Amino acid sequence: MKKIRLAVVGATGLVGRTVLKVLEEKKLPIDEYVLFASKNSSGKKLRFMDKDYIVQELNDLSFDSGFDYAIFSAGGKVAKKYAPIASSKGCIVVDNSSAFRMDNDVPLVVPEVNPEEIKNNHGIIANPNCSTIQAVVALKPLDAKYKIKRIVYSTYQAVSGAGRNGVLDLQNGIIDYMQKFSEFSQNQNSNALSNDLNFSSAKLNYELPKFNYPIFSNCLPHIDVFLDNGYTKEEEKMINETRKILKRPDLKITATAVRVPVFNAHSESINVEFENDFDLTELKNILSSAPGIVLQDDIEKCIYPLAINASGHDNVFVGRVRRDYSVDYGINFWVVADNIRKGAASNAVQIVKKMLKEC
Ligand SMILES: NC(=O)c1ccc[n+]([C@@H]2O[C@H](COP(=O)([O-])OP(=O)(O)OC[C@H]3O[C@@H](n4cnc5c(N)ncnc54)[C@H](OP(=O)(O)O)[C@@H]3O)[C@@H](O)[C@H]2O)c1
Repeated sequence: MKKIRLAVVGATGLVGRTVLKVLEEKKLPIDEYVLFASKNSSGKKLRFMDKDYIVQELNDLSFDSGFDYAIFSAGGKVAKKYAPIASSKGCIVVDNSSAFRMDNDVPLVVPEVNPEEIKNNHGIIANPNCSTIQAVVALKPLDAKYKIKRIVYSTYQAVSGAGRNGVLDLQNGIIDYMQKFSEFSQNQNSNALSNDLNFSSAKLNYELPKFNYPIFSNCLPHIDVFLDNGYTKEEEKMINETRKILKRPDLKITATAVRVPVFNAHSESINVEFENDFDLTELKNILSSAPGIVLQDDIEKCIYPLAINASGHDNVFVGRVRRDYSVDYGINFWVVADNIRKGAASNAVQIVKKMLKEC
């Protein structure tokens, strides 16, 4: 029988390492794995499936040895260059970057939402943006029942969404604060908190490898680059990708994407207006029985989704579901998911798993 081979590209990154973790957990019928990253990581050892794997530098010949599948998590530039090479050699690429998401001949897939699109691939399948994935898992069953008229997204995105350097920015801020706090405590011979809560970037004495401003004690309404229309690329991605995945090209959507000092798991406040009226209890039942969703919605017991609880899981957690009284048929709700797992690694592995089942 033919051996199934899978390449993990960007295996040393935040998403790539989580891809390895999810592959270990899911135990797919794959016979051989090869781990790729940049030149900087060539020769590095990664523990995976109880074995030490040597990371290989990705190059033009990497796919010559014949792969069935590849999960790319190495950014858009790498994907643009190497995904077409891989697919030209018979390998189906699932790419985590935004390089191909809006291409007409590239399916943009969330297995709970549009698994039927997988078969339409021509060698490349795109994984949507992390904030889009968790939103559409919740929106799809509501659109099917009540027909969505308009969506307003407001996101509260974790630093892990910006890769290793994003995490480093928050860590650096915390370390700096702890050092100042410790000096203050020693000088004052007291445990009291410093009264100086001014963390202005003008006074910054540590490195920010990722963001323009400190993320510690801050919120940054700026994710990815600014576009001419005043939106950020992240906001535009959420708008366009939602339309493509829900197959609603004219759907009215607006978005504000904000980076917050949370290590992992994105939170989103979503306002939806429907064409049709709904019963709130029925709507909640639809959400709780939809694939991939866990409804956590009991305000009397203060139960609602939290980033710290969603982190490490593959489900999309939904709560604070309530009627929006400012329109005829609308709701507000709160959606939280692990951006590295469901927002990237687990979604990609789920896609590969589906392809394996069908072959
Ligand atoms: N973080 C998230 O929540 C999230 C969610 C959805 C999608 N994504 C997407 O997933 C991708 C990876 O994100 P990340 O957060 O894991 O970033 P990251 O932590 O910065 O890791 C980047 C990875 O890409 C590799 N790489 C860089 N240049 C390369 C090259 N020339 N050839 C081969 N490998 C190269 C790096 O290898 P070295 O270690 O050798 O540098 C590393 O393994 C990005 O496209 C990102 O937009 C991220």
